[in-house]
Amino acid sequence: MKKKILITGCAGFIGFHLSKRLLNKFDVVGIDKLTNYYSKKLKLDRLNELLKFRNFKFLKINLSKKNSLSLLKKTRFFAVIHLAAQPGVRNSIFKPLDYIDDNIVSHVNLLQEFKNRNLKKFIYASSSSIYGSTKKKNYSEADPLTRPLSLYSATKQSIEQITRYYSHYYKIPSIGLRFFTCYGPWGRPDLSVTKITNDIIKKKKVILLNNGKTKRDYTYIDDTVNGIIKCLNFKNKKNQHEIFNLGTGRTYSTLQLTKTIGKILKIDYKIKFKKHHPTDMRITKSNMFKSKKKLGYAPKIDLKRGLKKYLDWHLNN
Ligand SMILES: NC(=O)c1ccc[n+]([C@@H]2O[C@H](COP(=O)([O-])OP(=O)(O)OC[C@H]3O[C@@H](n4cnc5c(N)ncnc54)[C@H](O)[C@@H]3O)[C@@H](O)[C@H]2O)c1
Repeated sequence: MKKKILITGCAGFIGFHLSKRLLNKFDVVGIDKLTNYYSKKLKLDRLNELLKFRNFKFLKINLSKKNSLSLLKKTRFFAVIHLAAQPGVRNSIFKPLDYIDDNIVSHVNLLQEFKNRNLKKFIYASSSSIYGSTKKKNYSEADPLTRPLSLYSATKQSIEQITRYYSHYYKIPSIGLRFFTCYGPWGRPDLSVTKITNDIIKKKKVILLNNGKTKRDYTYIDDTVNGIIKCLNFKNKKNQHEIFNLGTGRTYSTLQLTKTIGKILKIDYKIKFKKHHPTDMRITKSNMFKSKKKLGYAPKIDLKRGLKKYLDWHLNN
């Protein structure tokens, strides 16, 4: 019999790709409440892909509800990979309580359920946004946490601390992953790569905040998934809580991103520059030293190649 893994947020962008890859080796139980933050159809399409596998089981569960996991009380899991959350920085201004429920309360409910279940691994999604108002040009896991620029970032800072406590007290081997702007096929419609692509194709003006100077460490989804899988083999002690950056170590401005997408699509476009938004970080750039050394994580897909793969999928879907 294959080992079982629980993946939350399985109908989401990263959860879908991860589930698909892990189904080769594990039985996967996927949980999602199918929020309406973006197209439900996209989530259902991803889910239908996963339901083609006989060793995938889906449970529609809202993790923020107490006792929502009672159904799984008797199931033995090798690992839990918790990706369910309300993503998106801007939306957290308008729906703060959703972020508290789905990012913090859900996280604690999950830890409460699994605190005494002898998990070999609890892996969860943090974010590059936790680096907040840092002045550093390149972010390391050991950097002290600074002021969060958004409520979203504050929820991710909180769950890191909460997990640190649970890991220590209940001896749960845990890993928090700070993802840096993932993109790729089946990507979220609110991500800059998707928005810019849609605007160019639909001949709308491409809106670039901060005059196109905002820089991101864009990470192709396959590299992110490889990084998560590496964590399953990482030997952490029972009460050890580790944090890893999963980025590329390279950074590109949104103007450079737009130019690259326009060039690959061979479509002319117009840009409307707007001012910086205070909840946005001006730059994200991961220091990859720790992830490379301790996980053996080595991102392979550069931006141009990743965008070609993404655009190929986008144009056919
Ligand atoms: N994609 C990125 O670039 C990125 C960057 C940094 C961090 N992250 C984090 O990685 C994780 C996955 O991101 P994603 O891009 O796949 O987002 P996503 O929105 O595509 O997936 C998240 C999924 O979680 C589900 N969900 C939300 N609240 C839930 C709840 N209470 N119970 C059950 N399901 C719930 C949603 O329906 C959604 O399908 C998130 O935690 C996100 O904050 C993503």
